[in-house]
Amino acid sequence: MAGTTTAAPGSGRVKSGIKGLDKLIDGGFPQDSIIVVSGTPGTGKTIMGLQFLYEGAKNGEMGIYVSFEQEKKDIYRQAAQFGWDFAALEKKNLIRVFSMWPTSFDEVISKIFKCLYYKPKRLVVDSITSIAYTMRDNKEAFHKMVEKLKDTNLTAMLTSEMLDRDKGFTRDGVSEFVSDGLIILRSVEAAGEHKNLLRVEKLRSSRINKESHIYQISSNGISLTAPPPG
Ligand SMILES: Nc1ncnc2c1ncn2[C@@H]1O[C@H](COP(=O)(O)OP(=O)(O)OP(=O)(O)O)[C@@H](O)[C@H]1O
Ligand SMILES: [Mg+2]
Repeated sequence: MAGTTTAAPGSGRVKSGIKGLDKLIDGGFPQDSIIVVSGTPGTGKTIMGLQFLYEGAKNGEMGIYVSFEQEKKDIYRQAAQFGWDFAALEKKNLIRVFSMWPTSFDEVISKIFKCLYYKPKRLVVDSITSIAYTMRDNKEAFHKMVEKLKDTNLTAMLTSEMLDRDKGFTRDGVSEFVSDGLIILRSVEAAGEHKNLLRVEKLRSSRINKESHIYQISSNGISLTAPPPG
């Protein structure tokens, strides 16, 4: 049943809500998959999470946003900038936003799983880097969390911080391996101009376009710039 309203008929795909992205990923995220969105600071990770939930809510799918970085009112404000009325959607039980302080790993996990009582179809955790520091043994803890999430009937987007100097794709160094999908956001400077680039690094059971694509953040949220024809 997960994601049935937004998946293309018979394909089991969950629409991302990001204009131009679904074309790169076989029509959307596979239902019930765990996607890591990793990016350098200020590249739009939070906005992408909000947009992903808004897309579901528009189609009647309940979504949960768990933030370890911002207060609830700030999340509402950020969503409202794009015309996404999270307060109204929360009243209709289509969105729930939880803001929490990362404490111990077990507490964080238990709090996240308590939120699933609302039976969401979509979940965003922003960011897993914030909770990585609560994990003594990162690798095992992440595995445990991802495996538990995979047993639930939802599609999850986990945001992750990346620094340009990092060797891997995420600061925790683990989530990129255990997730089903990995999207990388970067800001690059070329000929004195800044550009945002998105790349789909992996997505299990999907044909993907792995090229870098320019994206914009505007009053409509994040959208990929169509490549020139020809
Ligand atoms: N209405 C808007 N129009 C254009 N750009 C915007 C708009 N609102 C926000 N931005 C851009 O979005 C960026 C912030 O997006 P967001 O908070 O999602 O980034 P982030 O990757 O989550 O950042 P952080 O690493 O701090 O968590 C800002 O750098 C800003 O330039
Ligand atoms: Mg953010």
